[in-house]
Amino acid sequence: MQLLDGKSCSEKIRQEIAEKVAEIKSKGDRAPHLAAVLVGNDGASQNYVAFKVKDCDEVGFNSTVIRMEETATEQQLLEKIAELNSDDKIDGFIVQLPLPSHINEDKVTLAIDPKKDVDGFCPENVGNMSLGLPTFLSATPNGIMELFRRYSIETEGKHCVILGRSNIVGTPMSILMSRNTNPGNATVTIAHSRTKDLQKLCLSADILIVAIGKTEFVTADMVKEGAVVIDVGQTRVPDSTRKNGFRNVGDVDFDNVKDKCSYITYVTGGVGPMTRASLLQNTLKAHQRK
Ligand code: GUN
Repeated sequence: MQLLDGKSCSEKIRQEIAEKVAEIKSKGDRAPHLAAVLVGNDGASQNYVAFKVKDCDEVGFNSTVIRMEETATEQQLLEKIAELNSDDKIDGFIVQLPLPSHINEDKVTLAIDPKKDVDGFCPENVGNMSLGLPTFLSATPNGIMELFRRYSIETEGKHCVILGRSNIVGTPMSILMSRNTNPGNATVTIAHSRTKDLQKLCLSADILIVAIGKTEFVTADMVKEGAVVIDVGQTRVPDSTRKNGFRNVGDVDFDNVKDKCSYITYVTGGVGPMTRASLLQNTLKAHQRK
Protein backbone atom coordinates (compact mmCIF):
# COMPACT_ATOMS: atom_id res chain seq x y z
CA MET A 1 0.00 0.00 0.00
CA GLN A 2 1.25 3.47 -0.86
CA LEU A 3 -0.21 6.55 0.78
CA LEU A 4 -1.05 9.31 -1.71
CA ASP A 5 0.57 12.28 -0.05
CA GLY A 6 -1.55 15.30 -0.97
CA LYS A 7 0.39 17.46 1.45
CA SER A 8 3.75 17.06 -0.26
CA CYS A 9 2.21 17.09 -3.77
CA SER A 10 0.44 20.35 -2.97
CA GLU A 11 3.68 21.79 -1.59
CA LYS A 12 5.32 21.15 -4.98
CA ILE A 13 2.40 22.79 -6.79
CA ARG A 14 2.62 25.82 -4.49
CA GLN A 15 6.36 26.07 -5.19
CA GLU A 16 5.67 26.00 -8.93
CA ILE A 17 3.04 28.71 -8.53
CA ALA A 18 5.29 30.84 -6.30
CA GLU A 19 7.95 30.81 -9.03
CA LYS A 20 5.41 32.03 -11.57
CA VAL A 21 4.22 34.76 -9.19
CA ALA A 22 7.81 35.92 -8.67
CA GLU A 23 8.16 36.17 -12.46
CA ILE A 24 4.90 38.16 -12.74
CA LYS A 25 6.03 40.57 -10.04
CA SER A 26 9.50 40.94 -11.57
CA LYS A 27 7.80 42.26 -14.71
CA GLY A 28 6.06 44.93 -12.63
CA ASP A 29 2.61 43.30 -12.76
CA ARG A 30 0.49 43.01 -9.66
CA ALA A 31 0.16 39.59 -8.02
CA PRO A 32 -2.93 37.41 -8.58
CA HIS A 33 -5.70 38.22 -6.13
CA LEU A 34 -8.21 35.71 -4.71
CA ALA A 35 -11.23 36.76 -2.66
CA ALA A 36 -13.34 34.45 -0.50
CA VAL A 37 -16.81 35.24 0.80
CA LEU A 38 -17.65 33.56 4.08
CA VAL A 39 -21.25 33.74 5.28
CA GLY A 40 -22.01 32.77 8.87
CA ASN A 41 -19.98 31.00 11.53
CA ASP A 42 -19.59 27.39 10.39
CA GLY A 43 -16.37 26.19 12.06
CA ALA A 44 -15.22 23.96 9.20
CA SER A 45 -15.84 26.68 6.59
CA GLN A 46 -13.92 29.22 8.68
CA ASN A 47 -11.04 26.77 8.83
CA TYR A 48 -11.08 26.08 5.09
CA VAL A 49 -11.06 29.78 4.27
CA ALA A 50 -8.22 30.44 6.73
CA PHE A 51 -6.17 27.75 4.97
CA LYS A 52 -6.93 29.29 1.57
CA VAL A 53 -5.64 32.67 2.83
CA LYS A 54 -2.50 31.02 4.20
CA ASP A 55 -1.90 29.32 0.84
CA CYS A 56 -2.26 32.69 -0.94
CA ASP A 57 0.31 34.26 1.40
CA GLU A 58 2.70 31.39 0.79
CA VAL A 59 2.69 31.69 -3.01
CA GLY A 60 2.68 35.51 -3.04
CA PHE A 61 -0.97 36.06 -4.04
CA ASN A 62 -3.06 38.84 -2.59
CA SER A 63 -6.17 37.67 -0.78
CA THR A 64 -9.29 39.21 0.69
CA VAL A 65 -11.84 37.59 2.97
CA ILE A 66 -15.32 39.09 3.02
CA ARG A 67 -17.21 38.01 6.13
CA MET A 68 -20.96 38.28 6.25
CA GLU A 69 -23.31 37.61 9.17
CA GLU A 70 -25.24 34.32 9.35
CA THR A 71 -28.36 36.50 9.00
CA ALA A 72 -27.17 38.24 5.81
CA THR A 73 -29.89 38.15 3.15
CA GLU A 74 -29.59 36.51 -0.25
CA GLN A 75 -29.90 39.99 -1.78
CA GLN A 76 -26.95 41.30 0.28
CA LEU A 77 -24.83 38.38 -0.87
CA LEU A 78 -25.85 38.88 -4.51
CA GLU A 79 -24.89 42.57 -4.22
CA LYS A 80 -21.48 41.60 -2.84
CA ILE A 81 -20.99 39.18 -5.73
CA ALA A 82 -21.89 41.92 -8.23
CA GLU A 83 -19.24 44.15 -6.60
CA LEU A 84 -16.60 41.43 -6.86
CA ASN A 85 -17.57 40.70 -10.48
CA SER A 86 -16.75 44.26 -11.44
CA ASP A 87 -13.68 44.79 -9.23
CA ASP A 88 -10.67 44.78 -11.60
CA LYS A 89 -8.24 44.19 -8.74
CA ILE A 90 -9.78 40.77 -8.01
CA ASP A 91 -8.93 37.99 -10.46
CA GLY A 92 -11.13 35.31 -8.98
CA PHE A 93 -13.36 34.65 -6.00
CA ILE A 94 -15.26 31.91 -4.25
CA VAL A 95 -18.31 31.84 -2.02
CA GLN A 96 -17.57 29.21 0.60
CA LEU A 97 -20.28 26.52 0.77
CA PRO A 98 -22.48 25.46 2.47
CA LEU A 99 -24.48 28.65 2.82
CA PRO A 100 -27.14 29.28 5.51
CA SER A 101 -30.36 27.54 4.48
CA HIS A 102 -32.25 30.78 3.68
CA ILE A 103 -29.85 31.45 0.78
CA ASN A 104 -30.29 29.64 -2.52
CA GLU A 105 -26.89 28.23 -3.52
CA ASP A 106 -27.88 27.84 -7.18
CA LYS A 107 -28.78 31.53 -7.43
CA VAL A 108 -25.44 32.44 -5.88
CA THR A 109 -23.47 30.19 -8.23
CA LEU A 110 -25.29 31.63 -11.25
CA ALA A 111 -24.48 35.20 -10.14
CA ILE A 112 -20.70 34.70 -10.28
CA ASP A 113 -18.98 35.93 -13.45
CA PRO A 114 -17.67 32.74 -15.15
CA LYS A 115 -14.33 34.52 -15.78
CA LYS A 116 -13.90 34.88 -12.01
CA ASP A 117 -15.45 31.54 -10.99
CA VAL A 118 -12.22 29.90 -9.80
CA ASP A 119 -14.26 27.15 -8.10
CA GLY A 120 -15.39 26.09 -11.59
CA PHE A 121 -18.99 25.69 -10.37
CA CYS A 122 -20.99 27.84 -12.81
CA PRO A 123 -22.76 26.33 -15.85
CA GLU A 124 -20.38 27.83 -18.42
CA ASN A 125 -17.33 26.36 -16.71
CA VAL A 126 -18.98 22.98 -16.05
CA GLY A 127 -20.09 22.93 -19.72
CA ASN A 128 -16.59 23.75 -20.96
CA MET A 129 -15.20 20.98 -18.76
CA SER A 130 -17.70 18.50 -20.24
CA LEU A 131 -16.61 19.47 -23.75
CA GLY A 132 -12.90 19.40 -22.90
CA LEU A 133 -12.54 23.14 -23.57
CA PRO A 134 -10.24 25.45 -21.56
CA THR A 135 -11.94 26.35 -18.28
CA PHE A 136 -11.61 26.48 -14.52
CA LEU A 137 -11.86 22.84 -13.43
CA SER A 138 -13.63 22.21 -10.12
CA ALA A 139 -10.97 22.20 -7.47
CA THR A 140 -11.51 18.85 -5.74
CA PRO A 141 -11.88 16.68 -8.88
CA ASN A 142 -8.93 18.43 -10.48
CA GLY A 143 -6.86 17.93 -7.31
CA ILE A 144 -7.60 14.20 -7.46
CA MET A 145 -6.64 14.09 -11.18
CA GLU A 146 -3.40 15.82 -10.25
CA LEU A 147 -2.70 13.09 -7.65
CA PHE A 148 -3.22 10.41 -10.33
CA ARG A 149 -0.91 12.38 -12.66
CA ARG A 150 1.87 12.94 -10.16
CA TYR A 151 1.84 9.33 -8.91
CA SER A 152 1.55 7.99 -12.51
CA ILE A 153 -1.52 5.96 -11.54
CA GLU A 154 -2.92 4.12 -14.55
CA THR A 155 -6.60 5.01 -15.06
CA GLU A 156 -7.12 4.00 -18.70
CA GLY A 157 -9.65 1.18 -19.10
CA LYS A 158 -10.09 0.89 -15.33
CA HIS A 159 -13.47 0.71 -13.66
CA CYS A 160 -13.86 3.85 -11.57
CA VAL A 161 -16.74 3.86 -9.10
CA ILE A 162 -17.66 7.23 -7.61
CA LEU A 163 -19.80 7.29 -4.48
CA GLY A 164 -21.76 10.54 -4.46
CA ARG A 165 -23.19 12.70 -7.24
CA SER A 166 -22.73 16.22 -5.84
CA ASN A 167 -22.17 19.18 -8.15
CA ILE A 168 -18.89 19.91 -6.35
CA VAL A 169 -17.27 16.46 -6.46
CA GLY A 170 -19.09 13.38 -7.79
CA THR A 171 -20.55 14.74 -11.02
CA PRO A 172 -17.49 16.69 -12.27
CA MET A 173 -15.23 13.81 -11.18
CA SER A 174 -17.23 11.41 -13.36
CA ILE A 175 -16.78 13.69 -16.36
CA LEU A 176 -13.03 14.14 -15.90
CA MET A 177 -12.42 10.41 -15.39
CA SER A 178 -14.43 9.39 -18.44
CA ARG A 179 -12.90 11.88 -20.90
CA ASN A 180 -10.31 10.81 -23.49
CA THR A 181 -7.34 12.13 -21.50
CA ASN A 182 -4.56 10.83 -19.32
CA PRO A 183 -5.43 10.53 -16.49
CA GLY A 184 -8.96 9.67 -17.60
CA ASN A 185 -10.22 7.11 -20.12
CA ALA A 186 -11.78 5.15 -17.27
CA THR A 187 -15.14 3.39 -17.36
CA VAL A 188 -17.11 5.29 -14.77
CA THR A 189 -20.07 4.38 -12.59
CA ILE A 190 -21.67 6.91 -10.25
CA ALA A 191 -23.36 5.41 -7.21
CA HIS A 192 -25.80 7.24 -4.95
CA SER A 193 -28.46 6.71 -2.31
CA ARG A 194 -30.70 4.73 -4.71
CA THR A 195 -27.98 2.44 -6.05
CA LYS A 196 -28.70 -1.24 -5.54
CA ASP A 197 -26.10 -3.71 -4.19
CA LEU A 198 -23.48 -1.12 -3.43
CA GLN A 199 -21.08 -3.66 -1.96
CA LYS A 200 -20.97 -5.70 -5.19
CA LEU A 201 -20.50 -2.54 -7.24
CA CYS A 202 -17.68 -1.24 -5.02
CA LEU A 203 -15.97 -4.63 -5.13
CA SER A 204 -15.80 -4.28 -8.92
CA ALA A 205 -13.97 -0.92 -8.67
CA ASP A 206 -10.32 -0.61 -9.64
CA ILE A 207 -10.57 3.00 -8.52
CA LEU A 208 -13.02 3.97 -5.77
CA ILE A 209 -13.65 7.68 -5.15
CA VAL A 210 -15.76 8.32 -2.08
CA ALA A 211 -17.57 11.61 -1.52
CA ILE A 212 -20.79 10.97 0.39
CA GLY A 213 -20.14 12.60 3.77
CA LYS A 214 -20.85 9.48 5.85
CA THR A 215 -18.10 8.63 8.29
CA GLU A 216 -16.21 5.38 7.66
CA PHE A 217 -18.92 4.26 5.23
CA VAL A 218 -16.56 2.24 3.03
CA THR A 219 -15.42 -0.85 4.89
CA ALA A 220 -12.82 -3.47 3.95
CA ASP A 221 -15.46 -5.89 2.62
CA MET A 222 -16.36 -3.32 -0.06
CA VAL A 223 -12.86 -2.94 -1.47
CA LYS A 224 -11.17 -5.08 -4.10
CA GLU A 225 -7.61 -6.23 -3.46
CA GLY A 226 -5.22 -3.77 -5.14
CA ALA A 227 -7.80 -0.98 -5.61
CA VAL A 228 -6.97 2.72 -5.56
CA VAL A 229 -9.13 4.42 -2.90
CA ILE A 230 -9.64 8.17 -2.73
CA ASP A 231 -11.41 9.52 0.36
CA VAL A 232 -12.93 12.96 -0.15
CA GLY A 233 -14.98 12.89 3.07
CA GLN A 234 -14.14 15.09 6.03
CA THR A 235 -16.61 15.17 8.91
CA ARG A 236 -15.92 16.79 12.26
CA VAL A 237 -16.56 14.36 15.12
CA PRO A 238 -16.43 15.50 18.78
CA ASP A 239 -13.22 14.33 20.49
CA SER A 240 -12.49 15.53 24.02
CA THR A 241 -8.88 14.31 23.81
CA ARG A 242 -8.12 16.97 21.17
CA LYS A 243 -7.28 20.57 21.99
CA ASN A 244 -9.86 21.88 19.51
CA GLY A 245 -12.50 19.37 20.71
CA PHE A 246 -12.93 17.46 17.44
CA ARG A 247 -11.21 15.28 14.88
CA ASN A 248 -11.86 14.88 11.18
CA VAL A 249 -13.15 11.50 10.05
CA GLY A 250 -13.22 10.38 6.43
CA ASP A 251 -15.79 8.38 4.45
CA VAL A 252 -13.43 5.38 4.38
CA ASP A 253 -12.59 3.07 7.29
CA PHE A 254 -8.90 3.75 6.65
CA ASP A 255 -7.36 1.42 9.25
CA ASN A 256 -9.15 -1.65 7.91
CA VAL A 257 -9.19 -0.72 4.22
CA LYS A 258 -5.60 0.42 3.73
CA ASP A 259 -3.94 -3.00 3.52
CA LYS A 260 -6.17 -4.03 0.60
CA CYS A 261 -5.24 -0.99 -1.49
CA SER A 262 -2.46 -0.29 -3.96
CA TYR A 263 -2.89 3.43 -3.20
CA ILE A 264 -5.06 5.27 -0.68
CA THR A 265 -5.52 8.79 0.66
CA TYR A 266 -5.96 9.61 4.35
CA VAL A 267 -8.57 12.06 5.65
CA THR A 268 -5.89 14.63 6.48
CA GLY A 269 -3.03 15.42 4.13
CA GLY A 270 -4.87 13.73 1.24
CA VAL A 271 -7.47 15.34 -0.99
CA GLY A 272 -7.92 18.58 1.05
CA PRO A 273 -4.51 20.15 0.31
CA MET A 274 -4.88 19.16 -3.37
CA THR A 275 -8.24 20.97 -3.56
CA ARG A 276 -6.60 24.10 -2.21
CA ALA A 277 -3.69 23.80 -4.64
CA SER A 278 -6.18 23.57 -7.55
CA LEU A 279 -7.84 26.76 -6.38
CA LEU A 280 -4.47 28.51 -6.54
CA GLN A 281 -3.88 27.12 -10.06
CA ASN A 282 -7.27 28.46 -11.17
CA THR A 283 -6.59 31.87 -9.64
CA LEU A 284 -3.25 32.09 -11.45
CA LYS A 285 -5.06 31.14 -14.67
CA ALA A 286 -7.68 33.87 -14.06
CA HIS A 287 -4.89 36.41 -13.63
CA GLN A 288 -3.08 35.25 -16.78
CA ARG A 289 -6.27 35.30 -18.88
CA LYS A 290 -6.63 39.06 -18.36
N1 GUN B 1 -17.21 23.73 0.42
C1 GUN B 1 -16.63 22.51 0.36
N2 GUN B 1 -15.79 22.43 -0.70
C2 GUN B 1 -15.85 23.63 -1.33
C3 GUN B 1 -15.20 24.15 -2.49
O1 GUN B 1 -14.41 23.49 -3.17
N3 GUN B 1 -15.53 25.45 -2.80
C4 GUN B 1 -16.43 26.18 -2.08
N4 GUN B 1 -16.70 27.43 -2.49
N5 GUN B 1 -17.04 25.71 -0.99
C5 GUN B 1 -16.75 24.44 -0.63
